[in-house]
Amino acid sequence: MRRKLAAGNWKMNGTAASLAEVTALIAAHPAPRSEMLICPPATLIAAMAQAAAGSALQVGGQDCHANTSGAHTGDIAAVQLKDAGASHVILGHSERRADHNETDAEVRAKTLAAVAAGLTAVVCIGETEAERDAGATLKVIGDQLMGSLPDTAYGKEVVIAYEPVWAIGTGRTPTLEQIAEVHDFLRDELAIRFGTAAAEDFRLLYGGSVKPSNATEIFAIANVDGALVGGASLKAADFGAILSALDAS
Ligand code: 13P
Repeated sequence: MRRKLAAGNWKMNGTAASLAEVTALIAAHPAPRSEMLICPPATLIAAMAQAAAGSALQVGGQDCHANTSGAHTGDIAAVQLKDAGASHVILGHSERRADHNETDAEVRAKTLAAVAAGLTAVVCIGETEAERDAGATLKVIGDQLMGSLPDTAYGKEVVIAYEPVWAIGTGRTPTLEQIAEVHDFLRDELAIRFGTAAAEDFRLLYGGSVKPSNATEIFAIANVDGALVGGASLKAADFGAILSALDAS
């Protein structure tokens, strides 16, 4: 059985004062059924990992470099995230694909680096609104999935997050049927590439305007194994409510 995962992506939000949200989250959810992960800005990883020590909360990065060290000013290696206390790293988020022109090939290289460093990679894919309107969603998603995953990807080390670009931070979400269609498609594509049994090990997260009010219906979808939450992960009460909905699903 796949263990469900509630992941929060703080993006470029939060300072040391924000660690109070994490302390509250841990206090309210000492032993969740689901895995609980927050990916803060890199500046907070070590402090958050310290605050989370001994609790069920895991801490992750939001990006890593494909190399282990070297002359790459401003970048962070996967081994450095691990060293700071991270267990996961988000890779290929649509904001990085857009802001930093990240390609599937780069995401694949970063995924290899993350897994080699002992991190779980949360690999993000998703179509733009224009691509959906053009009827190209499954083609775009399929290409991103295949291009971003290394041949050695393994469900215990790699999580897939489907985040339609047009649903991120907009309050708009796909219909439940649209989410189900993509997640079923992803499971099928993974089975074609890695075999049916191995495909069952991959957690498939949905992301894009997940909030307490829509979490339960999204988590009822068969191939949805959790969520990658942006805005609603910044407040312990909201993220905790989403985690509770996942625990109950
Ligand atoms: P929102 O939950 O704010 O829409 O963000 C989703 C996201 O991009 C998580 O990675």
